[in-house]
Amino acid sequence: MNIFILIAFILINAELLKIHEEVKESFEGNNGWTIKNGKVQKEFCNSKIVFGGFEGQTIMSKLLIVPKHSYIKLSLDIVSQHQRGLVNIYLDHIEIQSVYVQQKCSENDYYVSTITSEFNHTGASIILVINGYAEEQDYKWGFKNLEISIQHCPQSCQVCDQGDIVEQCQIWKSFQNSWTATHKNLMGQDGWVSINGISGSSKCGGVPLIGGYQKFGQNQGLSKIIKLQPHYKLRLLVLWAKIDSWDNEYGLILFDGIQVWNQSFNLDNGYQIKVCGNSEPKYHTLFRRVDITVDHTGDQVKIDFLSTLDQGSDDESFGLRDLQIFYASCPDQCDMCRGPSSNDCIRCSNNLFQSMQGCNPLPYFYLLQSNFHYDKFTSSEGWILKQSQQSTIITDCQDKTIFGGYGVLGVGGIAEKQFFIPHHSQLRLQITLYKIDSWDGEIIIIEIDDEMIWDSSQYQYNEGNLCGTDYPDKLIYLDLIIRHEKQNTLLRIRSNLDENSDNESWGFRDFSLMYDVSNIVEIEDAFEYLLSLGILIIISFI
Ligand SMILES: *[C@@H]1O[C@H](CO)[C@@H](O)[C@H](O)[C@H]1NC(C)=O
Ligand SMILES: *[C@@H]1O[C@H](CO)[C@@H](O)[C@H](O)[C@H]1NC(C)=O
Ligand SMILES: *[C@@H]1O[C@H](CO)[C@@H](O)[C@H](O)[C@H]1NC(C)=O
Repeated sequence: MNIFILIAFILINAELLKIHEEVKESFEGNNGWTIKNGKVQKEFCNSKIVFGGFEGQTIMSKLLIVPKHSYIKLSLDIVSQHQRGLVNIYLDHIEIQSVYVQQKCSENDYYVSTITSEFNHTGASIILVINGYAEEQDYKWGFKNLEISIQHCPQSCQVCDQGDIVEQCQIWKSFQNSWTATHKNLMGQDGWVSINGISGSSKCGGVPLIGGYQKFGQNQGLSKIIKLQPHYKLRLLVLWAKIDSWDNEYGLILFDGIQVWNQSFNLDNGYQIKVCGNSEPKYHTLFRRVDITVDHTGDQVKIDFLSTLDQGSDDESFGLRDLQIFYASCPDQCDMCRGPSSNDCIRCSNNLFQSMQGCNPLPYFYLLQSNFHYDKFTSSEGWILKQSQQSTIITDCQDKTIFGGYGVLGVGGIAEKQFFIPHHSQLRLQITLYKIDSWDGEIIIIEIDDEMIWDSSQYQYNEGNLCGTDYPDKLIYLDLIIRHEKQNTLLRIRSNLDENSDNESWGFRDFSLMYDVSNIVEIEDAFEYLLSLGILIIISFI
C-alpha cells in the first residue's frame, strides 16, 4: 500500500469526528512533515510500521487545516529507545502531557507509549510540533497511529466554544479570513498594509506565515481599516508565531489604536528545539493561538498587529496566519448598538428614532439639511468656523473626514451655520461629535439662537485612538428633538476647552437637521406619539 496519509471522516462517537489519521507506509514527502536535524527511516514495532529514525535533537512540524470546531482529541504512539520517550509533543502552544500506556515492542528494545489528550481549541488550523530531547546522538524515536478528532461547531455556527448550543454561537458572523494558505507562495496580504514597508510571507518549519523571520521586527507589522456591519462585539482568532530572541517584549493587537491583546515572550518560550529563525539555537520558536472577544461598535475598525520589539527582524521577529474575524450583529433597524436587544441600540437605521423601547418611526419630521455624510467630504456646506487655528477646516480622522478636528478647533473654536426653517414647532438634530485627545472635564455645547440646548457633560463615550495625538478620542452620536419655532435660526457648536487644538480638539460629521410641520393637524398626534414614548427630548449616547 502506498498511501500513508489517510484523511478519514469517520464518526467515532456521537461527538467527536476523526479528521486525520496517519496510518500507512510510504513516507513520500515525509508525509507532509517538515523535519529538522533528522531523517525518516522505516522502523517496526509489534509488526506495525513506525514513522521513525528520528534523533535526540530532531524537531518536526506540520500544519493541518481543520473544520470549525471547539474541541480536539489527539492520540499517538511514541516508539523510542527510552522508557519515558524523551519526546515532546505540542499542538500549537499546548504541550501534550498525558496518559501513558507502555509496552515493549516485540521485535526490538524499543518502548511504545500511547499518548492521548483532549482540550478546547478554536482556529482554522492546528500545528503539530514533535521533538526529541535526548542528549545522546544515537538516540532514536518515531511514532505511529497519529489520530486527531474534533468536535464540530453546531451547524449554522461559524465559530464556537466547547459546549455551545446553536443560540450561543450563531451570534458570530464571519467577515474576514486571511493568511490561511498552506503554501508560502500562496500566502497573500489580503489587503493588509505592512507597517514600515516589509511585506511578504515566510515559512517557519512546516508553517507558512505572513511576515516572520527577516520580515516583522522592530516597528514592523500589519494594519488595516475594515468596514463593518452594525455590531456590538468582535471576535478575532489568529496564530501568532514568536521567533528568536524576544526578551520580555510584547506582541500586541490594537483595535482603533487601543490594545485588546498583549503577551510578553522570552527567548526561551517555545519548543525545546528551534523551528525557524536565525542560527542561535537558544532562541526558541512558539506558535501561539489567540482567540479574543472585545466589545466594539461603529461602522469600521482599524486593526494593528504590532510588537514592542526593539531589534531587527533577523534577531527577533513574529509572523501571523489563520486570521478570522467575527462580529455579533446589532438588532434589526439599528446602525450602532451596545448589545443584541432592541433597547441596546445607540443609533437607529433609516432615520428611526431611538427611545427606551427601541427604534421607532417619527412620521412628522422632514429633512431640511444633511451635511458631511460622505466618508471623505470636501465642502464646508455653508458652515463657518470661528477662531479656528488653521486655514484648513476639514481634517482626516481615521479614514474619514470631519469638519474641524485636530489642529483646527481648540480653545475658543466655534462652528456655526444659519438656517431658514419653514413653519415648525420642533426640530430634530443628528450629529456625530468627535472629542479628540486630552480633554479633561471639558464639554461640547450646542446652542440655537444663543441658547444652550445640549451639552456633553452627562455622556459616556465610544473610545478609540482615532486621530490627533496618542490620547484616546471619544465619539458621541446624538439624535435630539427640541421644541423650536423661529424660522431664521443660528445653530452654533462650541466647547469650553482651554488649550490649543494640537492638545485638545473637536470636530463633527454626519449632521442632519429635520423639522416637523406645525401647520398640519397631525402635529397633535406627533406630540402625543412622542409623549407616549415617555420622553420629549431623547438623546442617544454611548
Ligand atoms: C473548555 O471550554 C469550556 C466552555 O467553553 C470551559 O468551561 C472549560 O473550562 C474549558 N476547559 C478548559 C480545560 O479550558
Ligand atoms: C498588557 O496588558 C495589561 C492588561 O491589559 C496591561 O496592564 C499592560 O500595561 C499591557 N502591557 C503592555 C506592554 O502594553
Ligand atoms: C496638553 O494637555 C495636557 C493635559 O491637559 C497638559 O498637561 C499639557 O501641559 C498640555 N500641553 C500643552 C503644550 O499645552
